[in-house]
Amino acid sequence: MNPESRIESTLAALRRASEEFQPLVMASSLGAEDMVLTDMIFRNELPVSIFTLDTGRLPEATQRLLARIETVYGRTLRVYFPESGAVESFISTYGVNGFYHSGDARKACCGVRKVALLKRALAGQKAWVTGLRRDQSPTRAALTQEAWDSEHGLVKLSPLMHWTREDVWHYIAAYQVPYNALHDQGYASIGCSPCTRAIQPGEEERAGRWWWEHPETKECGLHLANVS
Ligand code: ADX
Ligand code: SF4
Repeated sequence: MNPESRIESTLAALRRASEEFQPLVMASSLGAEDMVLTDMIFRNELPVSIFTLDTGRLPEATQRLLARIETVYGRTLRVYFPESGAVESFISTYGVNGFYHSGDARKACCGVRKVALLKRALAGQKAWVTGLRRDQSPTRAALTQEAWDSEHGLVKLSPLMHWTREDVWHYIAAYQVPYNALHDQGYASIGCSPCTRAIQPGEEERAGRWWWEHPETKECGLHLANVS
């Protein structure tokens, strides 16, 4: 599919979704895919509100991008923060960077800093839009564009399902979309600062996320249905 048709059909899918499902929200990690969707939504004034989960451990460059979105589009994202008591309890049980030491601690940290926030963000919504792509990782290969998210009790939409990484960067260049400065330093996929690093040429694109874990099962809990 040529770039124009791909962009048109994705925009048409977003439009249809915004007519069919209200209220409709989009979850943005401020990664490259999410910036494409954000641009499509704001540029075309689609009735979709966008939120981000601020774990409290995000890189400074991600915070700067959040501010840049406000300048470029004149719109704000809704920002969710973790419950302070839950974070304090995680730290006293596992230590401040306890997620490096065991899978359970890592899941507990993501649970407190991300998954619990997502539950709050999705409450009362009819559907949510994500920037997931099939070719990002083995856990996402069977992704469908529209699925019932039984974990959260609403429809989950992945309009960029068929996009490649090149397609994403083509859009960003063509529409001059703001993006996270860490992408220019070899970061392909960006999450929390202590759990994200740059990748080497030839490495798969999520290799810099929780690099000490196994690629077949590495999902933080936001997209658990992807892990069998
Ligand atoms: S993650 O689950 O491993 O962190 P990834 O960074 O690839 O996921 O992002 C996949 C999709 O999950 C994003 O396109 C976005 O829809 C959602 N997402 C991930 N992290 C966040 C976040 N911090 N805030 C909001 N949405 C997020
Ligand atoms: Fe905690 Fe790392 Fe998960 Fe962020 S990505 S919530 S720091 S374990």
